[in-house]
Amino acid sequence: MTGVATTWDPALYLNFDDHRSRPFADLLARIGAQAPRHVVDAGCGPGHLTAVLAARWPDARVSAFDSSPAMVAAARERGVEATEQDVETWAPEGDVIVSNAVLQWVPGHRALLRRWLAALPDAGWLAVQVPGNFTAPSHVLAREVADRFDVPLRHDNTVAEPAEYAADLAVAAAVDVWETTYLQRLTGEDPVLHWISGTALRPVRDALSDAAYRDYVELLAPRLREAYPTNPDGSTWFPFRRIFLVARR
Ligand SMILES: C[S@@+](CC[C@H](N)C(=O)[O-])C[C@H]1O[C@@H](n2cnc3c(N)ncnc32)[C@H](O)[C@@H]1O
Repeated sequence: MTGVATTWDPALYLNFDDHRSRPFADLLARIGAQAPRHVVDAGCGPGHLTAVLAARWPDARVSAFDSSPAMVAAARERGVEATEQDVETWAPEGDVIVSNAVLQWVPGHRALLRRWLAALPDAGWLAVQVPGNFTAPSHVLAREVADRFDVPLRHDNTVAEPAEYAADLAVAAAVDVWETTYLQRLTGEDPVLHWISGTALRPVRDALSDAAYRDYVELLAPRLREAYPTNPDGSTWFPFRRIFLVARR
C-alpha cells in the first residue's frame, strides 16, 4: 500500500518530534548548497521541518508538497507554501530537493530518485532519508498481526540498501550515502506502539473498523512489550535504522 491512500494524523505524528527531527538535521548537515534559489520539501508532512529549511536558506523560495490533505493543511497553518501533490506525479523543480521519511511509502522510488537527480540544474542537490526498518521487530510484528485481520499491509520491502542507492546515483558529481541506527530512548506506556501508530500503522487504522483496530492493538501491544522491554527506570530502547542519500548534480 502506498501513502496515497493513507490518512495521516498530524498531531499523532508530531509526538516524538525530537527523535523524528534529528535525522532531518543530520541529512541537512550534508547538503552543501550555499545560496539556492528554490528549495523543495517533497512529502513535507506537518511542515515543521520545512521551516528548518527556510531558516537554513532565508533567501531561497521554500515550497513543499504532500499527498495528505491533513498534512498540507497543517503545513499551511504554519505558514508553509504547501500544495497537495503526489511524489510519483510531481514534476521536479528547484535546485535543492529534500525528502525526509517519505519514499518508503512509494514502491519504485529508486527510478523516481534518478529522475529527480536528472532534473536538477548543475550543482543542484538531492537529499533523501528513508527508514530502513522493514525487518525490525516492530514492523515484523505489525505485519504478523495484520495478517490475522486480512489487512493489506505491504509485505515487500520498498527500501533498498545503501550501496544500491549509491549505485543509482553514481552519475552525480558527488554522492554521499550512509546509514545510522539511532538507539532511541522512549518513555511512557507502550511507547513503541505509540510511535508506530503515527506512521507504520496508519494503513491498518484506515482498513479496520474502530472495534477491529482495538482488537488489533490488543494483540500487538504485548508482543511489542516483549520485543522492547521496559527498563527499570521506565524507559524503553527503540533502535531505529535510517538510510541517507545526498547527491550533488
Ligand atoms: C513520516 S511522514 C514525514 C513527513 C516529513 N517529511 C517529516 O520528516 O516530518 C511521511 C509523509 O509522507 C507523505 N507521503 C506518503 N506518500 C506520499 C506520496 N506518494 N506523495 C507525497 N507525499 C507522500 C505522507 O502524507 C506523510 O506526510
